[in-house]
Amino acid sequence: TKPGKPVVLLAEKLAPSVVSVFGDEVEVQHVDGTDRSALLAAVASADALLVRSATQVDAEVLAAATRLKVVARAGVGLDNVEVPAATERGVLVVNAPTSNIVSAAEHAVALLLSVARRVPAASASLRAGEWKRSSYAGVELSGKTIGVVGLGKIGQLFAQRLAAFGTELIAYDPYASPARAAQLGIELVPLDELLERSDAISIHLPKTPETKGLIGAEALKKTKPGVIIVNAARGGLIDESALADSIREGHVGGAGIDVFVTEPTTESPLFGLPNVVVTPHLGASTAEAQDRAGTDVARSTLLALRGDFVPDA
Ligand code: MLT
Repeated sequence: TKPGKPVVLLAEKLAPSVVSVFGDEVEVQHVDGTDRSALLAAVASADALLVRSATQVDAEVLAAATRLKVVARAGVGLDNVEVPAATERGVLVVNAPTSNIVSAAEHAVALLLSVARRVPAASASLRAGEWKRSSYAGVELSGKTIGVVGLGKIGQLFAQRLAAFGTELIAYDPYASPARAAQLGIELVPLDELLERSDAISIHLPKTPETKGLIGAEALKKTKPGVIIVNAARGGLIDESALADSIREGHVGGAGIDVFVTEPTTESPLFGLPNVVVTPHLGASTAEAQDRAGTDVARSTLLALRGDFVPDA
């Protein structure tokens, strides 16, 4: 370690923009954040730790990081960072709360259209040598009622995009401003009403004790037969087994799911079902979002290391 230069430890693959923002003001080191012993060793000499979602920044890591001043999460959710433990040690936690919201909203749209028009299944079938037009008839979004659960930044972007399809938009969000919803042409309704009226439902919530399991067996029973469910937010907001049961029973018509209760995973009751489109947590995985996330957290990290005020992004 060169004297004088703070050490920034990159624990995951981040966009190249991260390194360009840092220039030569810091010394950048790399470690595989999922390799626990390597992480614990490397973090001891780090002034800043940059992660995406695979590295668990828990009390043990923070205890080993005696020089640490800042933990930066190149994304929105802080699910993998124990914020109170960091705060207790005087370690600042920064994230990039707007970096990937467009990508997340676009991915939810992609999942919805994929399910509605059965694109992945039809593609797989044709590539396997079948020409089965009648097996892959879909449904239009135009004229349908779309229920948005959670009308925060991503939920709003999703709704704005769906408006272009000629849909009727309703949303459930006890914290949403009625004025903002009205501006976007969205009717705010109680959750039960949203479940009963929607032809497709997309969830855009953080995972908290309040939202975990929000869409379980009881909620699914209240939905319209044939409803399409989309989750590109967090695993566990929807009960995966209850959703799988409902699809198997022929009640829920299809689902587009990007996030799972355990990640990484290669097993879910949903994986074997028809009309289910799944992706491995790709909502934020675009060149643009990763570039923004990297740049945003690198800038905040530099400010923190200089001892400057770090504004909310
Ligand atoms: C987020 O919380 O921003 C996303 O889940 C991020 C990611 O996939 O890195």
